[in-house]
Amino acid sequence: VGDSTDIVNKEMYTFIKEERTLTLRPEGTAGVVRAFIEQGLHRQSKPVKLCYTGAMFRYERPQEGRQRQFNQIGLEQLGIDTPQSDVEVILLALEALKRLGITNTTLHLNSVGTAEDRLGFMEALKELLRPHLPGLCDDCKRRFEQNPIRMLDCKVPTCKQLYDSPLVLDFLDTFAWSEATTSHFKTVCSLLSTLNVAFVKNPKLVRGLDYYTGTVFEITTDLLGSQGAVCGGGRYNNLVEVLGGPATPAIGWAMGVERLAKLANISLTPPVVMVGIGSKPAVLLALAQWFREEHPNHIVEVDLTTKALNKQLQQAQKRGASSVFIVGDDEWVQGMYALKNLETGEQVLLSLPEIVKHLTL
Ligand code: HAM
Repeated sequence: VGDSTDIVNKEMYTFIKEERTLTLRPEGTAGVVRAFIEQGLHRQSKPVKLCYTGAMFRYERPQEGRQRQFNQIGLEQLGIDTPQSDVEVILLALEALKRLGITNTTLHLNSVGTAEDRLGFMEALKELLRPHLPGLCDDCKRRFEQNPIRMLDCKVPTCKQLYDSPLVLDFLDTFAWSEATTSHFKTVCSLLSTLNVAFVKNPKLVRGLDYYTGTVFEITTDLLGSQGAVCGGGRYNNLVEVLGGPATPAIGWAMGVERLAKLANISLTPPVVMVGIGSKPAVLLALAQWFREEHPNHIVEVDLTTKALNKQLQQAQKRGASSVFIVGDDEWVQGMYALKNLETGEQVLLSLPEIVKHLTL
C-alpha cells in the first residue's frame, strides 16, 4: 500500500501478540495479490479475475459515512494491460451501481503514469511548489519530501486553494507524460466516449494508495455529504512484482458497502424476530429453526424464559427486535400466530405462510 500513505502512516490498527506485530487490513488489494502469488494463481490463464468482500479497518477520524470498521466489495483483474481492459473493469463498476439503482454518480478519471514517469512528474511538481512550501500545512510539508503527488489531495483550505489555482492546474494540464502513458489514457477516454459513458477528467485525482500506475478512477455522488466516494480503483502494474511475484499488470476497484447501502436505501441490519411466549420449548425451537431455514436473512432469537408476556416484549425491544412472533398453546393448536410489530404496536393473527409473506414485505 506504501509507507508514505496516510493509510499506513496514520491509520493502521497495529497490535503486538506474542512478539508478533499484527495489523488489521485497511484494504483488500494487497491481500489479493499476496494470495495470487502464494496460491500460484499466476500460472492460470490470463486474465485472472478475482473478487472479495469483507471488513476493513482504518483509524481515521470517524464522521458520517466514514467508519473505522467498514466493509468493501472489490474486484481485481490480473494479467492484462490494455486500455480496453481498463474500460471493461470501469464498466463493471458502473453496471453494479446501476443494478443497485444508484445512478446519480460521476466517474472521475486520471492517469498517474508509470513509476518512471511519476519520478519526473514529482520532480517537476516539487520545483513548482517549492516557493510556496512555507505557507502549506505540516502534512503537505511531509508529503513534499516523501510523496509530493499526494499533496494534490490535501483538504486544508490554504493548500487546496493553491492546488486549485491556475499555476497548478495549468502545470497538470500541460505536463508531458511518456508516449505510452499518454496513448493508453487517450484510448481509455475515447473508448468510454464511444460507449457513451460520461466521465470527468480530473488531473488532481491521485488516490490514497501508492501502488497505482496509469489509469486511476473514482465514482462519486453528491448524496453522501463530504464522504462522496462510492468506488475507487485503478491500475497497479508493479504490485505483484513488488510483493515477490512475476511481473503481472493488474487493475481493480473497491466499493464501500455501507455507502452503497445508504444510497440504495438498503438496511444492513436484518429485522430481529423473537419467537416467544409458549409453554412448549420444543415448539418454539422447531418454529425458530423452520424460520431460520426459510428466511436466512432474518436474525431469529428464541425467548425460552417463562417471564410474563410484557417482560418478554420489553426484552425483545431492548434487543432491537422489529417484530415478535407470539406462540402460545392456543395458537399452536389453531395454527394461527400473533405477530406483533414493535415499532407500530400493531398485532395481527396469521398462519405460518402468511407470517413469512408479511415479514418479507
Ligand atoms: P479506497 O478508495 O481506499 O480504495 O476505498 C474504496 C472505497 O471504500 C471508497 O470509495 C469508499 O466507498 C470505501 N471506504 C474507504 N474508506 C472508508 C471508510 N473509512 N468508511 C466507509 N467507507 C470507506 C481501495 O481500498 C483500493 N483497494 C481499491 C482498489 C482495488 N484499487 C485497485 N483495486
